[in-house]
Order: sequence, then C-alpha cells, then structure tokens
Amino acid sequence: MPIKFAEESIHEAVRLLQAGELVAFPTETVYGLGADAANPEAVAKIFAAKGRPADHPVIVHLPGAGHIERWATDVPQIGWDLAEAFWPGPLTLILKRAPVTPYAVTGGQETVGLRAPSHPLAMALLRAYAQAGGGRGGLCGIAAPSANRFGRISPTDAAHVREELGEAVSLVLDGGPCDVGIESTIIDLSAPATPPRILRLGHVTPAQIAAVIGMMPEVLLTPGKVSKNARAASALQGAHTMLPRAPGVLAAHYAPRTPMRVVATAELTDTLAALHRDGCSVALIAHSPSAASLPARSWGLLPDEAEGFARGFYAALRAIDREGHALIIVEAVPDSPEWAAIADRIRRAAVGAGPG
Ligand code: TXA
Ligand code: MG
Repeated sequence: MPIKFAEESIHEAVRLLQAGELVAFPTETVYGLGADAANPEAVAKIFAAKGRPADHPVIVHLPGAGHIERWATDVPQIGWDLAEAFWPGPLTLILKRAPVTPYAVTGGQETVGLRAPSHPLAMALLRAYAQAGGGRGGLCGIAAPSANRFGRISPTDAAHVREELGEAVSLVLDGGPCDVGIESTIIDLSAPATPPRILRLGHVTPAQIAAVIGMMPEVLLTPGKVSKNARAASALQGAHTMLPRAPGVLAAHYAPRTPMRVVATAELTDTLAALHRDGCSVALIAHSPSAASLPARSWGLLPDEAEGFARGFYAALRAIDREGHALIIVEAVPDSPEWAAIADRIRRAAVGAGPG
C-alpha cells in the first residue's frame, strides 16, 4: 500500500473516491478512512476494512458550511453559528439527515454527522473533490471514521494507518502527525426542543460552545455513567435517543491490547515500586516531569499541558502497546475542563484494554 506525498496524489485520491474506493487521509484530529459518502457500496467497504458493525454511523466530511444543506435538513440557527465559529475544525454537528443522505452513513438513523476538517491536506482533498464534481449524484462528502480497526487506538500518523489497515485501503495520503491528536467534539443538534447534547468531548470544549450558542450544552458521557445518563436521556426524549449512537460513546474504545490502569499522581511512586518488586514488566505514560525517574521498563513522557498531551497520547500508547509489557500505567490527568476530553479517552482505553 503506497504512502504518497500529498500534493502529487490528491488527484489520484479523488479518482479513487469517485471510483468507490477507500482513501485514508489526515485530519487535524486523527486520520480518517474515507469513501464517497453518497455511495453506499463504497461506504460498506469502510465497515469491512475496520471490522466495524454496519449499523454504526460515520461522519461525513465537507469542504465547508456551504455543503451542509446537501446532507442535512432543518438546520437550527445554532448549527450555522457553530459551523461559522469552529469550521473548518474539530467539531462534528449531528443534524437531521436530508432525504438524499444514504442510510449507509447514518447507521440507519434519521440524523447525519457533518464536519469540515481543517488539516490543509484534508481541505485540499475536499476542494479538489468538489472541483471534480464530487461523488455520486454530484454530492460532495467524504464519509470517514478514524482509520483504525474497530475499538482500537485512532491513528495520528500515516504509518499508524498502514499498521492498522494494511492492504485494505487503496491509498494513504501522508500529512504528517495530526495536530490535535484526539477525535472531534460531537454535538447533537437534531432534537430542536431540547438543549444540544455533547456526545463526545474533544478539543472544542463545552464552554467554547456555550460562548457561541448562549447556553451550556448537556454532556452525555463518561463510561459507567453512560448507561445511567443514556437511560435518563431516553426517558426524557422518548424514542428520539437511542444511545449509544456513537461508537465513541461506548465505554470500551480507543483501546490498547496491553492491560492498562490509571493511577493518581500521588500514588505513582508506591504503585510502580510494588510492581517493580513483583518483577512485572510495566510501562508508564505520564505528564509529571518527575515521572522519568520512576521504575518502569518503558516511558511515554508527554507534555504537562492538555494540548501537548492530546497531540502525543495515542502515538505513545500505540508505541508502548507494541512493546508487549504486562501492564501500562497511565498517570491520571488533572480534573479540569481543558483535560476533560483526554480523561475521557484514557478512561475508555483502560476499560477496553487487553487482548482480544
Ligand atoms: O475527529 C474525528 O471525528 C475523526 C476524523 C477522521 O474526522 N473521525 C472519527 O470518526 O472519530 P469515528 O467514526 O471513529 O467516530 C465518529 C463518531 C462515531 O462515534 C459515530 O458513531 C458518530 O461520530 N456519529 C456519526 N454520525 C452520527 C450520527 N448521525 N449520530 C450519532 N453519532 C454519529
Ligand atoms: Mg473511531
């Protein structure tokens, strides 16, 4: 599977997408596994390559807000406001699907997830795709979940995609390491009578959203609390909400094969000393500078601020997972809004960690 320098291969990527083939491409969050969103047979190839259940929806990537109404209908004003404020960028809007939007990308639901990515290569690809007439029926949207096997760690550079998907993808556009490093914030705007709900935390925070729409969105998250919240939400909304609607909402997701445990900063020293005494091969992913002196077989030392940590976390987890330790210890992150999306991914990775 070729990993090609982008500028030269955008036209090939467009040709492949129009022919119903898969193309992996970088976004500012993580790499996506793309197909013509208007072509259900092409979208089916995404599910086959990922090993993902076919009833899960995928995000449709657009060149910009001008394309929203091709894919969605009854777009509320706050949808336009959010697109204006955060696109291109790491925010996915869940809206009512337009009649032409295939159920293949909505997971059979009446809603569609839309976002305009800001990675220059993703933007160039989407622009070229639009200029070339887009996909089936002239619709211009690239359906793309993260380019990893179902339930596993999202890829944040082109080599990760090759590692995950091998020959299952025709072309990987290489745009270098992703800048954000964790998946987009997902906000559900499809139930007009209720406050918007965040289905997945990300780089765009609830407070930033509130500043644009003038109200605090509800946050439907955190494994353990998910089922309780989901039940409460379903009761409130009737049949409208059928959580989990997003795989990113499942408790076990983004997970390594090595068992993983989250340990508070204050307990790191004792925990690692005990494991060391037992002869357990332990790797440590940490952000406190002092962690470098702790007894571990391998270290992933990440920046002690949220943006830098997010940028490096998946790559560190992936590298350490490959080394075959008995256990990965991840230092707990601060309990503050800017770390919330990272804390969420760490929790899910810990729940899903382990072989199989
Ligand atoms: O940052 C991202 O969002 C990356 C890049 C490639 O754009 N994509 C990504 O896709 O993380 P994926 O499929 O791994 O996760 C996207 C989430 C899924 O959990 C999916 O179920 C949810 O978006 N989603 C898409 N359409 C939806 C819909 N109509 N209703 C609810 N959730 C939806
Ligand atoms: Mg994913």
